[in-house]
Amino acid sequence: MKPLSFALLLLTCLLHFTPADAIPARIRRQLQGNSGMVTMPLKRHHVSRGVGLHPQVSTQQHINRASKRLARMTGREEPSERALRSELHKRLYLLEDGAGSRSGAPAAAQGLNFSGKYRSGLAAAAVMKNGTMGSGMGNSTKGTGNGTVAGGNGTSNGVSPLDIQAATNGGVTVAKPPTVNNSLGLDIEANDVAYIATVQIGTPPRDFKLLMDSGSADFWVAGENCQSQQGGCGNHTTLGAQGSSSFVQSNQQFEVTYGSGAVQGLLCQDNVNIAGLALNNHTFGVATAESIQFASATTPFDGLMGLAQSKLSQEKVLTPVESLASNKIIQSPVTSFKIPRLADQLNDGQVTFGGLDASKFVANTLVTIPNVNNLGFWEGVMDTITVNGTNAGLTGRTAILDTGTTLILAPPSDAQKVMQSLGGACDAQQCTIPCTTKTSLALSFGNASFAIDPRDLAVLPIDPNNPTGTCTAGIQPQQIGTATEWLVGDVFLKNAYFSTNVATNQISLAKLTTN
Ligand SMILES: *[C@@H]1O[C@H](CO)[C@@H](O)[C@H](O)[C@H]1NC(C)=O
Ligand SMILES: *[C@@H]1O[C@H](CO)[C@@H](O)[C@H](O)[C@H]1NC(C)=O
Ligand SMILES: *[C@@H]1O[C@H](CO)[C@@H](O)[C@H](O)[C@H]1NC(C)=O
Ligand SMILES: *[C@@H]1O[C@H](CO)[C@@H](O)[C@H](O)[C@H]1NC(C)=O
Ligand SMILES: *[C@@H]1O[C@H](CO)[C@@H](O)[C@H](O)[C@H]1NC(C)=O
Ligand SMILES: *[C@@H]1O[C@H](CO)[C@@H](O)[C@H](O)[C@H]1NC(C)=O
Ligand SMILES: *[C@@H]1O[C@H](CO)[C@@H](O)[C@H](O)[C@H]1NC(C)=O
Ligand SMILES: *[C@@H]1O[C@H](CO)[C@@H](O)[C@H](O)[C@H]1NC(C)=O
Ligand SMILES: *[C@@H]1O[C@H](CO)[C@@H](O)[C@H](O)[C@H]1NC(C)=O
Ligand SMILES: *[C@@H]1O[C@H](CO)[C@@H](O)[C@H](O)[C@H]1NC(C)=O
Repeated sequence: MKPLSFALLLLTCLLHFTPADAIPARIRRQLQGNSGMVTMPLKRHHVSRGVGLHPQVSTQQHINRASKRLARMTGREEPSERALRSELHKRLYLLEDGAGSRSGAPAAAQGLNFSGKYRSGLAAAAVMKNGTMGSGMGNSTKGTGNGTVAGGNGTSNGVSPLDIQAATNGGVTVAKPPTVNNSLGLDIEANDVAYIATVQIGTPPRDFKLLMDSGSADFWVAGENCQSQQGGCGNHTTLGAQGSSSFVQSNQQFEVTYGSGAVQGLLCQDNVNIAGLALNNHTFGVATAESIQFASATTPFDGLMGLAQSKLSQEKVLTPVESLASNKIIQSPVTSFKIPRLADQLNDGQVTFGGLDASKFVANTLVTIPNVNNLGFWEGVMDTITVNGTNAGLTGRTAILDTGTTLILAPPSDAQKVMQSLGGACDAQQCTIPCTTKTSLALSFGNASFAIDPRDLAVLPIDPNNPTGTCTAGIQPQQIGTATEWLVGDVFLKNAYFSTNVATNQISLAKLTTN
């Protein structure tokens, strides 16, 4: 409960919060104004050390955050904090009560051990299997989709012990060195919750760990005078005049509210080095106040790099990749992601600036589609959605592709339909799936079908002692935005090479070489 109370506190204290207007055009103006209304990435709550959260509760929190986020991005009415909190209370109550009779998810409330073994507030686990994947998935192209699943060492089905361990202990799994220039490794937070890269800032240059987020457009790090409700901003690396002789403070304020957490601070200029690319005198944010989700010592990053388009920026400045391109340090404002999967143990996460890493994807599977979002998010048309190769009959859907979101959020009727074909179950709030599912869901973009590894469709076992039981699902229901709009996060993006281009306003996807 604590994180949501916190969010409420922040909304009332830190922000000048007004209810969202239902008129999109007006919202759009609001979003582009200084109201601090733009929302952004869906992040896990970084819960205090030792506080375990049941996966169903954390999933509900995750849905709540996504709900707020998408409501704002699409100009719809936001669910009130009260409504969101009451959903969570209800869920908590059901769990504590051991009620097992909720229709749609009978197994969900069984065998619960509510002492809360999981530390991670939001946890997207993968089901480890040594199975084949993707075969029969629509029109999938050769090269991937028929191989064995990389890294799956067990013969037993169910959620990988690595994921359960990571969800329990938190922590970061460090990436291997990048395989091309202009690239940074993406370290894995907990069990594929989020992805972190290290850049150098200031004079002398120091390392800052940044959450890499295609779903927002602001770049900020903690400032030397950063404050939070617990006092300072943890033991994070901070930026300011004391630590950097090239640091120049401005008095221009910024403020960003995320799905979980908020920051406010001032703009500054300093030298930023991204994978050896020197971006001198770049303008970005230093936080003077952070919510606990960012400030906590257990939060494994010092700031955030938004890699959506700068028209979404609250700081009203170019994103690093736009700035690199406009300074001709890279050829074009392209950002490309290889999102890693903890259970694979490949640790091959990588973000590349200015191009794509040809070694990471199968060349003839690359498709490029227009971005259909006007606000600056990356959103593509989904042609078809198939379950084990059978068309689910959902047409006209679009997907916002967001590395900063862990799960997939679909409108409830879509989620229900898809989960049913997947052998899972949904109630009004949440979907569950057998941890041992072998059924694959494929999303199609640009006429190419991208299969999601079944391991990614099961999040965490509801009973941590039963990794082959019932799991929270990687797809969750939420009435958000339009009835045809999905928020598609890492559960999908782990299964494709993903690249964005600000100059052409296009998105590219390709099949991975590694799975
Ligand atoms: C629940 O988990 C706790 C901590 O892991 C453990 O000590 C306890 O025995 C478990 N209870 C049941 C009923 O499994
Ligand atoms: C794909 O898998 C099927 C069934 O496992 C097998 O019969 C087929 O030969 C495989 N195709 C390739 C190209 O490996
Ligand atoms: C995984 O499955 C493949 C194909 O079924 C098999 O060749 C391989 O030996 C299996 N690996 C392990 C570790 O079981
Ligand atoms: C799987 O890999 C882990 C870590 O490498 C190892 O501890 C475990 O024994 C392996 N399990 C099997 C069934 O091979
Ligand atoms: C990376 O850059 C270095 C020097 O800038 C160059 O020598 C090397 O060939 C480049 N490597 C690749 C794979 O492009
Ligand atoms: C750094 O950038 C700021 C804002 O764009 C500009 O006012 C300033 O002159 C620049 N400083 C240097 C040394 O280029
Ligand atoms: C910051 O604190 C956390 C939690 O106490 C600890 O795990 C981490 O190692 C610390 N980091 C540094 C750089 O001291
Ligand atoms: C999907 O295919 C897999 C592998 O062939 C199979 O195990 C699974 O039962 C199928 N699921 C459905 C819902 O048909
Ligand atoms: C997808 O296929 C349809 C029908 O063949 C075609 O009209 C359309 O242009 C294709 N779209 C893309 C993005 O290739
Ligand atoms: C789908 O597969 C058919 C038959 O293999 C092929 O003719 C067609 O071009 C494929 N379509 C796409 C979009 O790959």
